[in-house]
Amino acid sequence: MDTEEFRHAAHQLVDWMADYMRDVEVRPVCAQVVPGEIFAQLPREPPFVGDPFAEIFSDFKKVILPGMTHWQHPSFFAYFPANSSPPSVLAEMITATLGAQCMSWETSPAATELEQRMMEWLGSMIGLPSEFEGVIQDSASTATLCAILSARERATEWRGNECGLRSENDLVVYGSTECHSSIERAVKIAGLGRSNFHKIAVDENFGLDPQALADAIEADKLAGRQPICVVVALGSTSSSAIDPLMSVAKICHQQNLWLHVDAAWAGAALIDPDFRWMIEGVERADSFVFNPHKWLFTNFDCSAYFVRSPETLLKTLAILPEYLKSQGGDAVRNYRDWSVPLGRRFRALKLWFVIRTYGVNRLREMIRAHVDLAQTLAGLIDMEEDFERLAPTPLALVCFRYRPRPLDSGMELDTLNEKLVAKINGGGKAYLTHTRLAGNYAVRISIGQTTTERRHVEDLWNLIKSTARTLGPSD
Ligand SMILES: Cc1ncc(COP(=O)(O)O)c(C=O)c1O
Repeated sequence: MDTEEFRHAAHQLVDWMADYMRDVEVRPVCAQVVPGEIFAQLPREPPFVGDPFAEIFSDFKKVILPGMTHWQHPSFFAYFPANSSPPSVLAEMITATLGAQCMSWETSPAATELEQRMMEWLGSMIGLPSEFEGVIQDSASTATLCAILSARERATEWRGNECGLRSENDLVVYGSTECHSSIERAVKIAGLGRSNFHKIAVDENFGLDPQALADAIEADKLAGRQPICVVVALGSTSSSAIDPLMSVAKICHQQNLWLHVDAAWAGAALIDPDFRWMIEGVERADSFVFNPHKWLFTNFDCSAYFVRSPETLLKTLAILPEYLKSQGGDAVRNYRDWSVPLGRRFRALKLWFVIRTYGVNRLREMIRAHVDLAQTLAGLIDMEEDFERLAPTPLALVCFRYRPRPLDSGMELDTLNEKLVAKINGGGKAYLTHTRLAGNYAVRISIGQTTTERRHVEDLWNLIKSTARTLGPSD
C-alpha cells in the first residue's frame, strides 16, 4: 500500500468511523453469533499474494463486525465501561501513525514529557496530594502487580529481587472478599503464594471491615507470617463498594504496611469534588491506580498509576543493560523502568486530546450525568414491589434482582434472574452482566458509556420490567 492508496483508504475509513459512531445504536449490543462462527469464515491459510484494501475492508464488515460486541453502544451496561470518545480516537490514529515506541526519553522526548505533565494534570484533577508521581500503565492489573512487587521488595529490603523468597517468612497481602481478582493474581505472579493472600470480611455494604483486618494482621504475626501490604478497593467490581480508606490507612501506618488503593473504575468520579470523601486518608497511601480507559472517555489502554515514592518503584523494577543506555542522564525520566514491559505505546496523547477537548468542567458534568442516571434508576427499582436492590449505589453501578412474591428460595430466584439477563442480552437491545452478592445472583447495571442518555436507561428499565414479568417456566 503506497501513500496515495493509504490516503484514499483512510478517507473511506474515517467516513465509516463517523457513521459507526453515529449509528452504533441500531446494532445489537452483544454479538449475536455462536462459538466458532467467525473462525469458520476465516481461511485456514494466509494469502500468499496480498488482497486489495477494498476487499479486506469488505470482509471486515461481513465477517468481523457481526462478531463484535459494541462496547461504545449507548445501551452497553455490562461490566464496567471501557469508554471512548472522538478526541481519544483521533489521538489513537496519530499514535498509530507515529508508531513510536516510547520506552525512554530519548526514544521520544515529547511522549515522556507529555506523560509526565498528563499525570500531574490527572493527579490534581482527582485531588491526589501533589507528592504523588504518576505513570501510565496498560492496565490496573499491571499497576497492582507493580504495587505488590514494590511492597515485597520494601519489606524484604530488596532481598526478594536478589535472592528470591526461599529464606523469607510468608509475606501476606490483604484485600476484602470483594476486591478484584487482579489482586490475587498479582500475589501469585509476585511469587508470594496464593495462600498468602488473605481475604478480609466485609460489612453489610460490602466494604472491608477494618477490625477484621486488624485481627487478621495480629493473627498472622503470631503465626510467624509477615504482613506486607493491604489493598483498598474504592468501587469494588461486584457492587462498587467503597472500603474505609482512612481506617485502613491508620492500620497500615501503625503496622508499616504498604497501602495500595485500587480505584480502577471509581477513581474517575474523583474529578468531581463531591466524591472526594472516598479518598480521605489517601495521603497515607503508597500507591493508587485508576483507569481513564474505564470511565474517563479515553480509549483502552490507559491506566494511571500514582506512587508516593518513585525511588521504591524504580529500585524494584529498574534494570539497565548496555543496549538500553540512552541520553539525558538524571535530567530525564525513563518510563521504561516504571512498569513491567519495556516497550511503551504513546498513550499520553489521547489523554491530552480528551482533557483539552472537554475541559475538566465538561468531564465532571459527563461523570455526574452517569451518576445521576444511576441514582434515578435505583429510585425506580426501589419503587417496584417485585424488584429489590442488593447493594447501595454510591456511584453509577446498580445491583438488584427480580423478586416476585411469593418466591423466596435463593436457587429459584437465582435461576429466574439468570434467565432475565440471558433474555435481555439475547435480544440485542442492551447488554448487562451479573455478579453474586451475599450469595445471591445479582443483576448489575453499570452506567458509564460516553453516549448513554436518560432515554437509554428508561428504555432499559422498561425492558427489564416487561421481560421479567413475562418470564415463564419454559424460558
Ligand atoms: C476494581 C477493579 N480493579 C481492577 C480491575 C482490573 O482492571 P484492568 O482490566 O485495567 O486490569 C477492574 C476491572 O474491571 C476493577 O473493576
